[in-house]
Amino acid sequence: MEHYSNYGEFSDPRLVAIYNTVNPIDGYKKFYVDIASKLSASTIVDMGCGSGLLTCELAKAGHQLIGIDPSSAMLGLARKSPCGEQVQWIEGGVEKLEAFQADLAIMTGHVAQFFLDDAGWQAALSSIHKALRPGGHLVFESRNPDVELFADWPTETSHQKLQDPVAGPIEWWQELAVKDARVKYEIHYLFKRSGEELVSACELRFRTQEEICQSLSSSGFSVQCTFGDWDSSPVGAYSPEMIFVAKRR
Ligand SMILES: C[S@@+](CC[C@H](N)C(=O)[O-])C[C@H]1O[C@@H](n2cnc3c(N)ncnc32)[C@H](O)[C@@H]1O
Repeated sequence: MEHYSNYGEFSDPRLVAIYNTVNPIDGYKKFYVDIASKLSASTIVDMGCGSGLLTCELAKAGHQLIGIDPSSAMLGLARKSPCGEQVQWIEGGVEKLEAFQADLAIMTGHVAQFFLDDAGWQAALSSIHKALRPGGHLVFESRNPDVELFADWPTETSHQKLQDPVAGPIEWWQELAVKDARVKYEIHYLFKRSGEELVSACELRFRTQEEICQSLSSSGFSVQCTFGDWDSSPVGAYSPEMIFVAKRR
């Protein structure tokens, strides 16, 4: 289990090519576009921007965008998108933040959960703090660890069937491997035309609301509000998300 994860969904060109079909941003697009507007953010850093779908929506809304991601394959997809030239795309991790001063930093698509150990998470928050202007905001989400894991994801017995514009019909589903504060799981992808099945082995960290609030506070942020879902409802026992709006002190 030491080297369990390969995160093939972000690195295998065959999986990156279907990433936008499998991972639409409809659920959270409006929330982030609205909050960026409400905060009057001029410059936004999108940490872990991936294929850049949301980065582009924010650029289209008139904000100046910097998209940072360690995956060259995902950035390749982002650069080729229709707004590719409106965004500054940077390959790398949080160390790349030191070149910037932004009004808003975001981590969407549960990027925060990819920081598996506490030292890495704390270092990421410190780097984001330095990259924000005084009074700047950090907005991100993490899944609620108290609700059933991936309750709405397809399973081995109920594949999700999709039509990719290039790859054609595909099916995907997840299989849980280890359920802990660090959750290990596999995402299976079946390409119906060729019958080829690819697997992305992933690991995510599930932190509690209290742990995240504490880490934000010790990194120089004040938590302004925490929502439980994309409709901005408060966090409750059954909320799927914990969406943090934090301000740089
Ligand atoms: C689920 S995707 C989300 C992409 C995008 N933010 C979205 O909403 O569609 C997670 C992204 O986080 C990136 N990532 C993984 N570990 C990271 C890290 N330590 N620092 C920054 N980004 C990371 C991956 O390369 C991947 O593109």
